[in-house]
Amino acid sequence: MPEPRTFLLTGGGGFIGSHTCLDLLEHDHQVIVVDDFSNSVPAAVERVEKLAGRQVPAYQVDLRDRRELAKVFAAHPVDAVIHFAAKKAVGESVRKPLQYYDVNVCGTVTLLEVMYRYGVRELVFSSSCSVYGRPCRNPLVEADAGTPTSPYGRSKWMCELVLADACARYGDLSVIALRYFNPIGAHDSGLLGEDPLGVPNNVLPYLAQVAVGRRHHLNVFGHDYPTRDGTCIRDYVHVADVADGHRLAAEHLGDRTGLRVYNLGTGAGTSVLELIAAFSTACGRELPYRFVGRRPGDVAELVADAGRAAREWNWYARHDLATMCQDTWRFQRLNPAGYDR
Ligand code: WQD
Repeated sequence: MPEPRTFLLTGGGGFIGSHTCLDLLEHDHQVIVVDDFSNSVPAAVERVEKLAGRQVPAYQVDLRDRRELAKVFAAHPVDAVIHFAAKKAVGESVRKPLQYYDVNVCGTVTLLEVMYRYGVRELVFSSSCSVYGRPCRNPLVEADAGTPTSPYGRSKWMCELVLADACARYGDLSVIALRYFNPIGAHDSGLLGEDPLGVPNNVLPYLAQVAVGRRHHLNVFGHDYPTRDGTCIRDYVHVADVADGHRLAAEHLGDRTGLRVYNLGTGAGTSVLELIAAFSTACGRELPYRFVGRRPGDVAELVADAGRAAREWNWYARHDLATMCQDTWRFQRLNPAGYDR
């Protein structure tokens, strides 16, 4: 068992942040949450506390607010930071590019400055498969990145470049960027899950709301792609596996300095129609969908080669698609209106 450490989680109230928070607590680490709660709720942190039977100090802070952020570092000795906090809607990023660069890139730069000032030299960064843009092949290896197609994807790519430059300048920094593919699922207690604000952008949260009657049907964006059934293929990965990947990354920060990048995915592709079928099985009824035109910016297929995380950390995605759908459905069924907002 690795030494217990103290991690500061930015965005710790969000979907992936809250699951990682619980995973760290269950492995005896200490956690401090910093979140502006713009797309998450304190109730998520309270549920983590309930599940773990431990207290989690949580601060409502915008990362770009240097002074407020510094106060958190001044109040708590922190060993390492796990940085989830970001805006993440691809379509919105096209409409509001400057806001995305401000929050995602400036937020990361400010965080780096403040953590460096307080002597924190270790960081796990939430990157994304969107840094691959139009893939040159599938499955994708880490070296294939660099041509993202949206402001969101470019903001994540820019952050990776900022982190690489910071590591080149400050030889004592250790940074791990995790590029996750399509995280879905929920904690198996049904207490933690994904609760998007407004109309969900992502396919499974939308489908889950169809299943509880909050939406009429799913629009399937395009069925003329060069794939086995004409719909897009993605690499859906259980949020508990993604959380586990963060903990392993955090525990490997001390191995060496510099920037390292890892994909987190299953290596298996699922089409939109296959996902609808799997989720329909999980909730016990056929869910209505209609084919509509392609969504701008979508690519036919995105699948991870997750071999690096397997080789170096023995990390594997352990949950299959049926389990991911059952867990998503349990959370949605038990929390039809999401967390109390
Ligand atoms: C999946 C598939 C859609 C909605 C995004 C980000 C990526 C990562 C995950 C964070 C696509 C189709 C969707 C709907 C549909 N996030 N779809 N009807 O676009 O693969 O990835 O989220 O970093 O970076 O780009 O995920 O869930 O939006 O779409 O048919 O109502 O479902 O066309 O084929 P995406 P998604």
